[in-house]
Amino acid sequence: MDLGSLAKEAVSRLDSVHSPESLEAFRVDYLGRKGKLTRLFDSLKGLSGEERRSKGQELNELKRLLEEKVKAKAGSVTSSGSKKDSGFDPTLPGLRPPLGRLHPLTQTIREINGIFERLGFEVVEGPEIETEFSNFTALNIPQDHPSRDSFATFYLQSETGRESPLLLRSQTSTVQIRVMQKRKPPLRVVAPGRVYRPDQVDASHSFMFHQIEGLMVDDRTTFSELKGVLQFFLRELFGPGTRIRFRPHFFPFTEPSAEVDVNCFLCQQKGCSVCGGKGWLEVLGAGSVDPSVFEQVGYDLKRVQGFAFGLGVERITMLRHGIPDIRFFFENDLRFLRQF
Ligand code: PHE
Repeated sequence: MDLGSLAKEAVSRLDSVHSPESLEAFRVDYLGRKGKLTRLFDSLKGLSGEERRSKGQELNELKRLLEEKVKAKAGSVTSSGSKKDSGFDPTLPGLRPPLGRLHPLTQTIREINGIFERLGFEVVEGPEIETEFSNFTALNIPQDHPSRDSFATFYLQSETGRESPLLLRSQTSTVQIRVMQKRKPPLRVVAPGRVYRPDQVDASHSFMFHQIEGLMVDDRTTFSELKGVLQFFLRELFGPGTRIRFRPHFFPFTEPSAEVDVNCFLCQQKGCSVCGGKGWLEVLGAGSVDPSVFEQVGYDLKRVQGFAFGLGVERITMLRHGIPDIRFFFENDLRFLRQF
């Protein structure tokens, strides 16, 4: 092999050297005691004076070149390994920043808002710190009603000079009052938000949870319109085959009042642990607005009628996704949250 191609071969081999071990192997192979260059030096012995001198010069140059290159390379290959296993591979795709997502309760709230918006309802909000008037009195809840007890409602420390203490609202029905105080009918609103009750936390109770309130007021509304609105809503939410049932109930601020059930979609009404063998799931409270509520907000009783309803967002979300424990919503465990 002539010196030119030996030089080329050596340089291209050196290009693929990425570790101290392969660099040493290269050095031994070319510059070592039995290396390719050394052998060529040996072969000079058989040449005549002139030829020997010029070939010897070329060989020396090549030797110096390779020695320099080996030295330079030694600086760039580190003992931690080659470039390939240094952990940096520029050909790998970049790291994606983790994408956020909406909390399952937010998803439920937005979906429900959307259904009512299609029926002409407007989404409104009210404060979480409330007065006894909006949370109880204006809603026709008598002074001695157990829900006013401090075991049932969180009261804030009363400010000096304030006659009745502020509280954390225990229901979104407060927003009915606030909206009617501010606006004249016709009204169609839904009001999602947090409510608070000093309940012992367990699989189905939390001291803070979410409700969505609905209120429609017009010069004339009927109970069958309430039924139609809720039937539309529940079929949108739970599917077109959903059956609903109104059970007579009592709420101080609606008269007549009802609790609304949907057929248990988990057991097809055969009876299961979720519906407690009843085949029906309670999902809503509802009724026609009690005239005493209209009186409290200064509406003319002879000219208005209305209906209201309220639902629990956690309960609906748990039913729809088969979530067994309300605490999952508030523990911020991404393994749970990522599923929605
Ligand atoms: N506020 C009631 C509750 O928390 C629900 C409700 C709202 C009932 C509106 C009737 C009308 O249980």
